[in-house]
Amino acid sequence: MGKNKRPQRIGILTAGGDCPGINAAIRGVGKTAIVKYGMEVIGICDGFIGMINKEYITLTEGSLSGILTLGGTILGTSREKPFKSSNKNKKEISKPVLIREHYEQMGLDCLVCIGGNGTIKTAYLLAQEGLNIVGIPKTIDNDVWGTDVTFGFDSAVNIATEAIDRLHSTANSHKRIMVIEIMGHNAGWLALYSGIAGGGDVILIPEIPYDEKVIKEYLLKRSRENKPYSIVVVAEGIKIPPKEKSAGDFIARRINELTGLETRVTVLGYIQRGGTPSPMDRILASKFGATAANMIADRDFGKMVSQRNGEIASVPLSEVAGKTRLVERNNTLLIRAKEMGTCFGN
Ligand code: F6P
Repeated sequence: MGKNKRPQRIGILTAGGDCPGINAAIRGVGKTAIVKYGMEVIGICDGFIGMINKEYITLTEGSLSGILTLGGTILGTSREKPFKSSNKNKKEISKPVLIREHYEQMGLDCLVCIGGNGTIKTAYLLAQEGLNIVGIPKTIDNDVWGTDVTFGFDSAVNIATEAIDRLHSTANSHKRIMVIEIMGHNAGWLALYSGIAGGGDVILIPEIPYDEKVIKEYLLKRSRENKPYSIVVVAEGIKIPPKEKSAGDFIARRINELTGLETRVTVLGYIQRGGTPSPMDRILASKFGATAANMIADRDFGKMVSQRNGEIASVPLSEVAGKTRLVERNNTLLIRAKEMGTCFGN
């Protein structure tokens, strides 16, 4: 392809943990590329594995119809990290080299990488290798640097909030402490948002080290004030002793040991990632997807689509790669929740 020619043929891949809204983003890229620019679009199967094994499908306007509301990803995904996992046989061609060869053989002018932090890092490294790349951020964790929000997050907040809502009545009936473990290994966005939306009394997130004594005193005070039950929202990534397996189980056990109050735990798990995207995620993913196609047509490569202060923007992959967007101590929601009496364990 001539250096300034409009791209003719593009590939889309989805990598990392799935989330609601990915198909809406695939549809947004694909339909815009086909309808507005007359491009050919192929879908790479199972994330970077599809680039390594040259497995792909052709996406047409027809095949992109009816996928807007579907959860998961029609292309499949994997956590393959081609720059990390070396080939077993040293004589084999390295995975990044294979990807570059297959990119040429598939006749791609650009590869759209839809993913979270790990995917964006790989996308950046591939761009360094000379591939034309556009990134689209997605994850329920909402922790991709360079964007205020990722699609998948709103759906997951809705799911987790509904789960917390449902705990109130059973907690009240039995006068129990209900601990609920929410996803989020490094960042506590999902626990923070669903915890506040669901009226969590205690919210523990990885960014804020907790003191068991503070939690104990807080829950005992509530009990003394005749508040019959408490809801404790715990992000899965909070610090727990190495032998412990689950943050939720550990915190529930410690609360029971320290307060003597009857305690139960719910680990929400993959329900948070599954199912149909919320309307807000469908809209955000469609906007991100359509913007990515426009960026490709403008040859605006090496960047990730983002949203800043409510406006669609883009950010160089080099600025995003290797970073995680965490909840900061001066986060307004965090401060307001503290002022309302929510306990963050500190
Ligand atoms: O997609 C992000 C995430 O949902 C994290 O919150 C979670 O810890 C992780 O994925 C687990 O996913 P998997 O088991 O697929 O690696």
